[in-house]
Amino acid sequence: MNILHVCANPKPTEESVSKQLAVQFFSALVAKNAEVEIQNLDLYQTPPPFLSYDAFRGAWNPVFVEGYRATEKEVAALNYAEKQGELFNAADVLVVTTPMWNFSLPAILKAWLDQILTPGVTFSLERDGPRPLHHIRKAVLLVAPGGTYKEDDPRDALTMQFRAAVGFIGISEVDIAWADGQNPLFFADSAQRKQLAVEAAQEIAEEVAEMD
Ligand SMILES: Cc1cc2nc3c(=O)[nH]c(=O)nc-3n(C[C@H](O)[C@H](O)[C@H](O)COP(=O)(O)O)c2cc1C
Repeated sequence: MNILHVCANPKPTEESVSKQLAVQFFSALVAKNAEVEIQNLDLYQTPPPFLSYDAFRGAWNPVFVEGYRATEKEVAALNYAEKQGELFNAADVLVVTTPMWNFSLPAILKAWLDQILTPGVTFSLERDGPRPLHHIRKAVLLVAPGGTYKEDDPRDALTMQFRAAVGFIGISEVDIAWADGQNPLFFADSAQRKQLAVEAAQEIAEEVAEMD
């Protein structure tokens, strides 16, 4: 089984709760299934470009303009999407490690989504909707917000946006380990909250390890 692990956090692990969730997730996963192949994509090491006009035309004009052939410049602008799309399409499970910033995804993660959610890369767009070109069956979010959030909290744009984005290309199963309340100035129980999220991450990892 192939796992694509996308990390959108510039901090060292010892300072990052979401990265610590990732450490626990992957050690539980490998302990249960030593056969898994893990591809790590650190977005701060391999930053996605913002979607350019050339990339936009190269990807979307062939969908909407019959017989459209992308120029060389437009094809070149799709380089990042194509390369990362190959990793994405080789995966069975997507794991994303991320903080919550301003109630949403860090911009670098949104930029990566804008790149890979490209027609001809991870899906084709047909009259009846998007058709996946990947075979990812489950996405896992390992996330750490500073504040606390109730279920379906309208301030939480992160999970809503992530679910909608991957749902668009056919990934409906999203498991979340959610270490909220990580601002120790406001929450005396941030360590307990983190521990609960670690346990959730380990449980999800054990389920992933058993997927065939
Ligand atoms: C730029 C920035 C914006 C943040 N915005 C939010 C926010 O909107 N809501 C929230 O609950 N926490 C917010 N936080 C707090 C982080 O989510 C919190 O520190 C969390 O632990 C970060 O995850 P990490 O420890 O893996 O880096 C923000 C932190 C930073 C640096």
